[in-house]
Amino acid sequence: MAILQINGLTKRYGGITAVNNLNLEIGAGEVYGILGPNGSGKTTTLGAVLGIIKPNSGSFTWFEGKYGNEERMHIGSLLETPNFYPYLSPVKNLEITAHIKRIAAPRIDKVLEIVNLSQRRDSAFSTFSYGMKQRLAIAAALIGDPEVLIFDEPTNGLDPQGIAEVREIIQQIAGEGKTIIMASHILDEVEKVCSHVAIIKRGNLLASGEVGAILSNDRQVDIAAENLGKLREILSKFPGVNNISDKGKLLQLQVSQDMTATQLNKLAFDNGLIISHLVMKPKSLESEFLEITAGK
Ligand SMILES: Nc1ncnc2c1ncn2[C@@H]1O[C@H](COP(=O)(O)OP(=O)(O)OP(=O)(O)O)[C@@H](O)[C@H]1O
Ligand SMILES: [Mg+2]
Repeated sequence: MAILQINGLTKRYGGITAVNNLNLEIGAGEVYGILGPNGSGKTTTLGAVLGIIKPNSGSFTWFEGKYGNEERMHIGSLLETPNFYPYLSPVKNLEITAHIKRIAAPRIDKVLEIVNLSQRRDSAFSTFSYGMKQRLAIAAALIGDPEVLIFDEPTNGLDPQGIAEVREIIQQIAGEGKTIIMASHILDEVEKVCSHVAIIKRGNLLASGEVGAILSNDRQVDIAAENLGKLREILSKFPGVNNISDKGKLLQLQVSQDMTATQLNKLAFDNGLIISHLVMKPKSLESEFLEITAGK
């Protein structure tokens, strides 16, 4: 089932197009990363689908429309972090959150357990570390047992231990079958936590799909032979060869990590072609991210 379908979403602020004709489909149970550098339109996109920001054009549909006007009851988000009262305990604060959200049977003990704050259930919020405050905000988002969680840069400002804890919590929530949509500007985070990713830059969608496919470890190859058309034809049929593009006198393509130059040479030779140029470049995820977000 499509949890969220976004069609041609566009949001402009004066001369700035924050989100440009975005199309995206997020399926049930996916942990969907929206990955992009600062200012790429991640928060704007999340704000729009939460109904906080009004788009200029385009539309979106939650849960294929099955909940009608009640759909917000099924979405928990960290975008609208509740104001917690400093002198109250997490339990009291969550009771207030639940009351405001009109949640009849809040699962306070359960969510405190999920975010690992059970031991601090009676301490005042003001005594919490920044990481604990962030975890309480996650607890607040979870309180109505929503089907979907929306997190905007959930690990921002946390120290390495805090980052690891929040990532673990997200993975645990995902393990319960919830759909998670999270914005991040950290490639490594998306790779570690997400099943799917959409890469955006300056409001434009550059790529989307399964993390394994989009952020793959494929190596880039430059290759040439006298008969470039035939070379392309042979390569396109060879398993493990992807994304062949014509660069004038040579072809650029991606091959799976374990493919060797010898294999490519033999493939050409067996088909009556002599390779005149062959360069295989190692490809790190970091370089792919930079490549994918650079100059487009
Ligand atoms: N209220 C606003 N008024 C004017 N411009 C805005 C407003 N909100 C966002 N923008 C602009 O829209 C663009 C996208 O911003 P957005 O906050 O969605 O990016 P982001 O990907 O969330 O960035 P970050 O990683 O820094 O959080 C930016 O150029 C930003 O300056
Ligand atoms: Mg943002």
